[in-house]
Amino acid sequence: MAGLVLAIDQGTTSSRAIVFDTAMKPIGTGQQEFTQHFPASGWVEHDPDEIWESVVATCKTALKKAKSTAADVSAIGITNQRETVVIWEKATGKPIHNAIVWQDRRTAPLCQKLRKQGLEPLFSRKTGLLLDPYFSGTKIAWILDKVKGARRRTEKGELLAGTIDSFLIWRLTGGKVHATDATNASRTLVYNIRTNEWDAELLKILRIPAAMLPEVKDCADDFGVTDKKLFGAEIPILGVAGDQQAATIGQACFEPGMMKSTYGTGCFALLNTGADMVRSKNRLLTTIAYRLNGETTYALEGSIFVAGAAVQWLRDGIGVIGKAEHSGVLAAKADDTQNVYLVPAFVGLGAPHWDAEARGAIFGLTRNSGPAEFARAALESVAYQTRDLLDAMRKDWKGGSKQTVLRVDGGMVASDWTMQRLADILDAPVDRPTILETTALGAAWLAGSRAGVWPKAKAFAKSWALDHRFKPQMDETVRAAKLKGWRNAVKRTLS
Ligand code: G3P
Repeated sequence: MAGLVLAIDQGTTSSRAIVFDTAMKPIGTGQQEFTQHFPASGWVEHDPDEIWESVVATCKTALKKAKSTAADVSAIGITNQRETVVIWEKATGKPIHNAIVWQDRRTAPLCQKLRKQGLEPLFSRKTGLLLDPYFSGTKIAWILDKVKGARRRTEKGELLAGTIDSFLIWRLTGGKVHATDATNASRTLVYNIRTNEWDAELLKILRIPAAMLPEVKDCADDFGVTDKKLFGAEIPILGVAGDQQAATIGQACFEPGMMKSTYGTGCFALLNTGADMVRSKNRLLTTIAYRLNGETTYALEGSIFVAGAAVQWLRDGIGVIGKAEHSGVLAAKADDTQNVYLVPAFVGLGAPHWDAEARGAIFGLTRNSGPAEFARAALESVAYQTRDLLDAMRKDWKGGSKQTVLRVDGGMVASDWTMQRLADILDAPVDRPTILETTALGAAWLAGSRAGVWPKAKAFAKSWALDHRFKPQMDETVRAAKLKGWRNAVKRTLS
């Protein structure tokens, strides 16, 4: 069975590997969760070795389930949790510190200091990002500052830094290739998204030596071959993209104006703006959607830190549901006359507020409020936050119109109630595709098309198939009243 493509999806809570056949159908999957470390309030770390082991194990499982071997695989595509950083020794591949995860807030004071120095416009102009601890640059600086001898060793060229994709590429190629792709680079706060190169001025401010950073390649490119010892045969790594960008590709959002939203731990909405690097006036991010054949396609991005995590909180935090998939059924039973609002600022608020200090709050409780009202408030909070992003995008992008259709994916979209409520709050159609593995599919497409075993973009886009379109049904006055209540709740939650 030749011509298979192996997609590695290294996410925030688990690593997945999927083998796709030549008809672009998944035929074998491996999945493994790994430990989340919370060493202090607001800090989140992963053990890079545990991540590495989970990736190798899931690849082997996926190959086994697909009844195939490495020799059958034409290409690997990698997609990953973005912004999370690792620094490791060039000689041994050993990390010098745990990975600092995208959710980690420890560099808030450094960001604040840089903001006070008036540097946000400079970072923003060059990178499209904001000075928030979410991004990689300040996390790299933190490790270099805190790990004894790290700066000295960096000067001697002994250490390498990168996002998870780079770390995996280094390990997969047996230490032969130090590379990343333009989408992952665009989340680091030190990559100039206009010139497409590491920015010397920003690197100097954060005291990060350029020499420790990876070479930045196109998303479909040659990232080396896997060490034969790992899977029994060499496999070329031909595709790399951050997970939200891979989902954008997997959803075939190749045309300007197309938009996807992925509901995983958080929610990340990306609007393709084509060759236009749209500067947000509404606190959205300008980012690289993908770079193919040297041509950069940009996106406006809205990042929400808590989406599926609110459902996890219903299950693990307050125990009102036994399983995540029960949340929609419970929410449907809520009393329509109650107006309960949850602002899930558990780790602050992302776009468009960017308030690292805000914390979660619940409003409108009465003696009759119970599990169903909590469940509804949690699911509705995801819809309201998406609406805030959509409003900001419509204001920012000249092509933005009322006609926007949102393509959705991620665990939460399996719930019909949640998707209908999303369409109602957005006042826009919500399209759920038949294939929900869009992140892995996007990475597989990058690698498969580069290898010549998958179709080019246009033909691939034609294979996107609709499962269900949720159309807005809510009465306009009800929607307006609900949105007013939400905005009031957010105002009262901001720090
Ligand atoms: O920017 C963070 C994002 O890439 C994480 O995605 O799906 O691993 O939670 P996910």
